[in-house]
Amino acid sequence: MVGKNDCGQTGHPAKPREEDGRGGRRARFKTFQGNIASTGLGDRVRVLREFSMPALVQLMKEMEGQSALGFDFVYIDGSHRADDVLMDAEMAWRMAKNGALLVFDDYEWNQAREGTISHPKGGIDAFLTVHDGEYAVISCGYQVMIKKLVGQRLGLSFASADSQLS
Ligand SMILES: C[S@@+](CC[C@H](N)C(=O)[O-])C[C@H]1O[C@@H](n2cnc3c(N)ncnc32)[C@H](O)[C@@H]1O
Repeated sequence: MVGKNDCGQTGHPAKPREEDGRGGRRARFKTFQGNIASTGLGDRVRVLREFSMPALVQLMKEMEGQSALGFDFVYIDGSHRADDVLMDAEMAWRMAKNGALLVFDDYEWNQAREGTISHPKGGIDAFLTVHDGEYAVISCGYQVMIKKLVGQRLGLSFASADSQLS
């Protein structure tokens, strides 16, 4: 998709990817645990071993009525499908605080054709179009970073929906 949200940059060398599957996932999780342990801040990290959608729904329910809770930073680098990226972004966006940074990986991924359901870019562009005016673009390239300029809107109950109307 080429449009106003296309960052206008082309070409990126192929990023070698580890094979997926059980072995790859287990190895990646071990690396993740090692990296977290090496920071010495493991007690501040909470891991949800779920697909993104149920995990995000769980977090959204936990945040309801807890105005101090919300994301300051979001990094989207899970599924490469455009629709999954769009869903992950939309859910995370609602839970992000005003001023939060949101980063999309793989905007210029070259392992699938742009504009297809198999490429993240369509989902990222769709998200940026729907939320036009609600963010500032900080950087745009293989990764896209935006800063949120509006507050949270969980949208889980009529009470919170009503407060948006007044
Ligand atoms: C592109 S890799 C990135 C992994 C990690 N950020 C890194 O750079 O090493 C995507 C990872 O997300 C997992 N994944 C894919 N779709 C997912 C989803 N819907 N929810 C949660 N994880 C997902 C994949 O199994 C894979 O481990």
